[in-house]
This record gives sequence, structure tokens and C-alpha cells, in this order.
Amino acid sequence: MKETPKLNITQSRKLYEEALELVPGGVLGARKPTDFIDGEYPIFLESGKGCRLTDVDGNEFVDFLCGYGPIILGYREEEVDEAVYRQIRDKGFCFTLTQGYQNLLARKLTQLVPSSEMSIFLKTGSDATTASIRIARAHTGKLKVMRCGYHGWHDWCVEMKGGIPSKFWEDVFEFRYNRLDQLEELMALHGENTAAIIMTPFGHPNHQKMQIPEPGFLEGVRKIADQYGAVLVYDEIRTGFRLSMGGAQKLYGVTPDLTVLGKAMANGYPLSVVTGKRQIMMAAEKKLFISSTFFPNSEAFVAALKTIEILERDQVLESIWEKGAWFMEKIQGLLDAHNVGAQLSGVAPMFYITFKKDETGAYKAKRTDFYTQLIRKGFFFTPFHHAYISHRHTRADLELTLTAMDEAFAFIKDKYP
Ligand SMILES: Cc1ncc(COP(=O)(O)O)c(C=O)c1O
Repeated sequence: MKETPKLNITQSRKLYEEALELVPGGVLGARKPTDFIDGEYPIFLESGKGCRLTDVDGNEFVDFLCGYGPIILGYREEEVDEAVYRQIRDKGFCFTLTQGYQNLLARKLTQLVPSSEMSIFLKTGSDATTASIRIARAHTGKLKVMRCGYHGWHDWCVEMKGGIPSKFWEDVFEFRYNRLDQLEELMALHGENTAAIIMTPFGHPNHQKMQIPEPGFLEGVRKIADQYGAVLVYDEIRTGFRLSMGGAQKLYGVTPDLTVLGKAMANGYPLSVVTGKRQIMMAAEKKLFISSTFFPNSEAFVAALKTIEILERDQVLESIWEKGAWFMEKIQGLLDAHNVGAQLSGVAPMFYITFKKDETGAYKAKRTDFYTQLIRKGFFFTPFHHAYISHRHTRADLELTLTAMDEAFAFIKDKYP
């Protein structure tokens, strides 16, 4: 099997060299070349439409990162963008006071998300997870936090501790997904002083296989939260408006006290929310302060209302589950046929191809080769983050992707006999 030639990414590299002079690290966080395969992936994009991206060198890709999660419909989704243009042109979106869209969206959430009774809207996922912890602490008068999953870049939860006094994170303890025993142990030590248990209801730990909840896990966490009077927060930043219209909580049938949503809610426009039980949310009325100049801006509310309207009208998530299930079955077929140590995890709307660790470390080289072949062929996945599929991925796009995967696995099989 022939190796696919390297992409021309000259312009990307040029912009990156320039960026290194202007922005620390050139680009931020998970957009860094080291979060992909350095030298193989583009670093700067020019445009996107539907499920496709074009980089600054003119390379085109079928994209499976979906902007790291917000793109549930597609890039430049006309109906959503038109609604936003109309809002900007005819009414405006940044004012001294709040526009009524806030109420419309808060009401809509009460109809869709099981835990939703009252909502506070913010901009980023990190804003919202942080707000949920502040609300839980104010409500309970307790300090400690149990966490499971990535919750953003703020002081209490970010993995890199540089620049953060230890007092901001030393009362936060981590347990692993599906490890009720770890939470039980932590709560036996700290339960009486625990304000919140915050977790992703579906397991998507960074760089690792995805996990669905084992029988009794979510129910067990719910029970422990109740037993100690801790606020149970579901971080549904990735799973909200993706696994179901009511999030993973609706799918798995366990309701938290507070829910945090963002990403897919507005198909790319910046909006997040803490939504939950009235009695707990009311702590935010008088006991604490949450406000920011841009939080009430209406363009993202309009985008969210339109996105949700389309998701419901066109039964988008049902169709994503259907085509995603088909796609995963075909991928599994390729894994079985080639048997190169790759494994598939996740659920139809978000899945991940990882490589089984081996003693020699060869899995890393195979992983690099697999994802290198895919990006060179024009399919944008990354070794270090799971994939998403969107409404605009057609069966034909997925078939093209399967052909590329088939060739990439065959290449690995030849290279590592
Ligand atoms: C589960 C989860 N929570 C919180 C966040 C933080 O969101 P943001 O990057 O919008 O601040 C993310 C971002 O990827 C996330 O995946």
C-alpha cells in the first residue's frame, strides 16, 4: 500500500512563524501543532462549509472535529446565520439592558432538559462550570468539590497549575469515570464538607477511550450526592444537544441538580448556560455575583433558538444516531479485518479510534501513521481527541471516509507486519 504524499502546508507554517512573534505559543490550547501531528496538519484555516474545511493553503478536508464540538448542524449553516444577520441588522444585539430572547431560551430549556427549572446564560463552557460550582458552594455553604472529566481552563479545575495559588484547587478532588468506589472513598473522607459533585454523564476523558456508564454508576453517584447533601452537576458541555435534546441525562435517565450546557446549543455562537433546580439556582439571586458585559448579548440566543428549532424540526439527532451507528459498525468491520491494534469507543454522535497500548510503544507509531494518512487524504481527525459527526455529514462523506480508513489501516498493516 503506497504512502499518501504529504500536504503542502507552507502558508500555514508561515502564519505560524509570524504568530509565534505575536501570540505566546502562536495559537492557543488544543489548536497547537503538538495537539495534532506536528508538520502534517494545517495550523490555520481559511473557511468552512457544511462538514468541510479549507485551510490557508487551499487543502480541503472532511472534518470530524466540528470546531471541537459546537458544530452540530454544519459550518456556515445558512438558516442560523441568517437569523443572526437579521438580528444584528434589524434590531441589534449588544445593549444596556437585556432583550427578551433570554426568557424564550430559558423556557425552552425547561421543556427539554430534565434538570432545568431556572437558567443563567454565560459565554463559554468554563464560565458555566465555574458558575455551577459557585452556586453549589453558596447554596450548601460547603467548600469541597469532587470532579470527573475536563471542565475548562479556570483556576479550580485546569490541569496545568501554573499561575494558580494552590488554595484555589486544593479542595477539588478527582475521581475516574465508572469508578464509584473512588467517589465513595473520597466522600467517606470529605463528604460532610462537599458542595458539589461535577461530572460528565458520559465518559470522555482526555486522550483516552470513551466510556458509556456501567449499570448503576450514574444512579450510584446520584445516591451519594443525596446522602451527603452535595449538589450533583452534570457537565454536558459536549453531550448537550448532541446525545439527545435533553442531554445524556435524558438518554441515561438520571437527573442531576444542575446542568451545564454550551458548545452545540448555538451551532458555534458563543453561549453557555447553568440550568437547574430552582431551589439551588436561587442562591445566585442574592448570595453571589455572576455578570459580564457580553453575557446578555442576543445574537447567540437567537442562534441557539434557531439551532434548537432546526434540531427538533429535522430530527437531526435521530439522524446523527442512525448514520453514526452505521458508520461505527463499518469502522468496527475495518478494525476487525485489519487487526492492527486499533480500537473504537464511544457512541454514534461522538466516537474515538485509539490504539491499544503495547510494551514496545509501537502503538504510538501506528497511531501517528494512521492519523497522518487520514489528514493527507483529506479527512480531519486527530489522535488526541475523539471525533464528532454533524448533520451535514452525508452518507457519501462517510463512505469516502471509510475508504480512506481502509487504505490507512492497510498501510499500517504493510508497515508493521
Ligand atoms: C466537558 C467540557 N466541559 C467544559 C469545557 C470548557 O468549555 P470552554 O472551552 O467553552 O470553556 C469543555 C471544553 O472542551 C468540555 O469539553
